[in-house]
Amino acid sequence: MEDKHILCIGLVCLDIISVVDEYPAEDTDTRCLSQRWQRGGNASNSCTVLSLLGAPCAFMGSLAPGHAADFIVADFRRRGVDVAHVAWQSRGDTPCACCLVNRTNGSRTVTLYDTNLPDVTAQDFEQVDLSRYKWIHWEGRNAAEQAQMLRRVEEHNRACPAPQRVSTSVEVEKAREELYQLLGYGDVVFVSKDVARDLGFQAAPEAVKGLRARVRPGATVICAWAEDGADALGPDGQLVHSDAFPPESVVDTLGAGDTFNAAVILALSRGQSLQEALTFGCQVAGRKCGVHGYDGIV
Ligand code: ADP
Ligand code: FRU
Repeated sequence: MEDKHILCIGLVCLDIISVVDEYPAEDTDTRCLSQRWQRGGNASNSCTVLSLLGAPCAFMGSLAPGHAADFIVADFRRRGVDVAHVAWQSRGDTPCACCLVNRTNGSRTVTLYDTNLPDVTAQDFEQVDLSRYKWIHWEGRNAAEQAQMLRRVEEHNRACPAPQRVSTSVEVEKAREELYQLLGYGDVVFVSKDVARDLGFQAAPEAVKGLRARVRPGATVICAWAEDGADALGPDGQLVHSDAFPPESVVDTLGAGDTFNAAVILALSRGQSLQEALTFGCQVAGRKCGVHGYDGIV
């Protein structure tokens, strides 16, 4: 039987990436070192990484027909990501981001034109055959709809034997109050440092300890913190930490968090411990920071 897939639900966009030697001053006219198009968006980037790590995976999100979408679909196929769940919108633009990557320190500055294409709804999600998936990951966006999708999976899990259950994870990355309802869903909750700070925490260990009360009983909360690595708290209440694995030189951190999430999900889906998953996440994310794009992370 074919291996069950991991499904990632969220944003796909076109990233137009310019690599610069230093961040430009406002109202100047400079040359960049190189420029490229890259498929972007958190859920979409996590699919790229899952695929490179050898995990069968699928993407669910919205696109508007046009040149950007053609490029994106071709790139999903090139990477072997299943796009059966793309919701095609009849009007609007595919989201596009202008990304400046500073080659000297790898920092990235993103201006996203999020075109407000309708996100996938709970009704769209009804069409998904849950028996094809072993894990479903949501990038927090249209939170109320996504909460409904998560409840559908919870119900499915209650009604079926353990080997057929679908594990779930949620990423709360943007510091937006509406997204915080998602903290209460999912077997695994990824919280960014922006969200942690917004909720009053100054470091990852403090954040995962403080957020334990807001996640489901038995859920795991994980917080990555750039050069400081990542911390997590599992159902047993034990704090787990991994240091970062900095590459020889950090050249491109665009998508580091998405890479971390994908590697952690894969390790956990394969039955590895939380410590192993956190360490693997930081290793793969560290390798990503040492290369432009994603080739070379495995
Ligand atoms: P993002 O800003 O893309 O959301 P994070 O800051 O959350 O990414 O980092 C995710 C993971 O990527 C970290 O846990 C770490 O392992 C790795 N990482 C990010 N930045 C660096 C860096 N400068 N050096 C080494 N590892 C890094
Ligand atoms: C990286 C990323 C980019 C995209 C932006 C959207 O995490 O997904 O690919 O342009 O964030 O916020």
